[in-house]
Amino acid sequence: MGLKVGIIGCGSITKFRHGPEYQANPYVSELVFFDRNPERAKALAEQFGGSVVQSAEEILQDASVDLVSDCSSNESHEIFSTEALLAGKHVLCEKPIALTLEGAGKIVEAQKKSQKKLMIDHNQRFTPAHQKAKEIILSESLGKVLTFKTTFGHSGPEFWGVNKSNNTWFFKKDRSGLGVAGDLGTHKIDILHYLLDDEIQEVSAFQGALDKVDEHGESIEVCDNLVCSLKTKKGRIGTASFSWTYYGEEDNSTFIYCEKGVLKIYHDPEFQLEVITQTGEEVKYKLETVMTNANQTNTGVIDAFVDCVRLDQPPQVTGEDALLSLKVVLALLESANTKKVITV
Ligand SMILES: NC(=O)c1ccc[n+]([C@@H]2O[C@H](COP(=O)([O-])OP(=O)(O)OC[C@H]3O[C@@H](n4cnc5c(N)ncnc54)[C@H](O)[C@@H]3O)[C@@H](O)[C@H]2O)c1
Repeated sequence: MGLKVGIIGCGSITKFRHGPEYQANPYVSELVFFDRNPERAKALAEQFGGSVVQSAEEILQDASVDLVSDCSSNESHEIFSTEALLAGKHVLCEKPIALTLEGAGKIVEAQKKSQKKLMIDHNQRFTPAHQKAKEIILSESLGKVLTFKTTFGHSGPEFWGVNKSNNTWFFKKDRSGLGVAGDLGTHKIDILHYLLDDEIQEVSAFQGALDKVDEHGESIEVCDNLVCSLKTKKGRIGTASFSWTYYGEEDNSTFIYCEKGVLKIYHDPEFQLEVITQTGEEVKYKLETVMTNANQTNTGVIDAFVDCVRLDQPPQVTGEDALLSLKVVLALLESANTKKVITV
């Protein structure tokens, strides 16, 4: 008997990643879909095979459901993920873990109480280019990391989410919470923590709603751009930019500058990792096709989560990891709003 999975929220992330990746996983035997818009649940159940239920409770109270993917919008994670853990389910929760530290704390506490697996979908850790970069950094063949710059931007969530319009929840303060900083920023904060084996400790930021407007033509309530300077516990300094207004071309690149050379990740679409040394040697790695909003490839996250459950292994991205990234994002917004350097 394989694992039975309940999916809460049947929008784009379920359609493009959770649905196909569970369907392809050999250890998963059954899928159950719930969305408060029943048509969406029905469409995905038909596409990936599975049944539809009318409420989240039906998933949580079904003793045969082993795993829950929480793919609801940001403000609901603290409700569904907490309840699912307390109902005895293993949970894969989408990022950002929550809108507030209190909300994230509820999820982390529920995991401790239930002792079930909790993983957060910071999927950048799993990509081959980031994995290879981590290996090179760990080997210290380029010496120690000194500084970095990272960016994540695309043309905006109104082109990605299931509701492709300006009244998308991504633009609403009470649902998205953190704007682009929570949407794309958490990914890069998490990948910096992971690659550098370090934690961001001090931040200084500017943010703004530069271009996006809501359904009334008013500037959106959350930031569509944030740029910042970061200092880590180990004393590295670097910069990061997050944007929903990179029109024309996405940018998901990270440069890590070490004592003897630089790692360029997702700079060249053909070679996802380039290593250039101080002495002029250049190694270019062709590791994957780049995942963009238009080109979704297997993230490996679902397989990792299923393996963590069935082999009783620690999750590769914990609730505590995600809580730490959320703390940095909240510090970034506080810095931008107070015009002060903030200690995380
Ligand atoms: N890991 C990643 O790379 C990545 C990428 C995109 C989105 N996400 C995250 O995934 C989550 C979902 O994003 P999306 O892009 O699929 O959004 P979406 O708007 O396309 O879909 C969200 C779906 O959830 C449903 N929903 C929301 N709240 C609900 C509730 N309380 N009860 C029942 N159904 C509810 C909506 O009806 C909608 O169908 C968000 O937290 C987002 O940040 C993660």
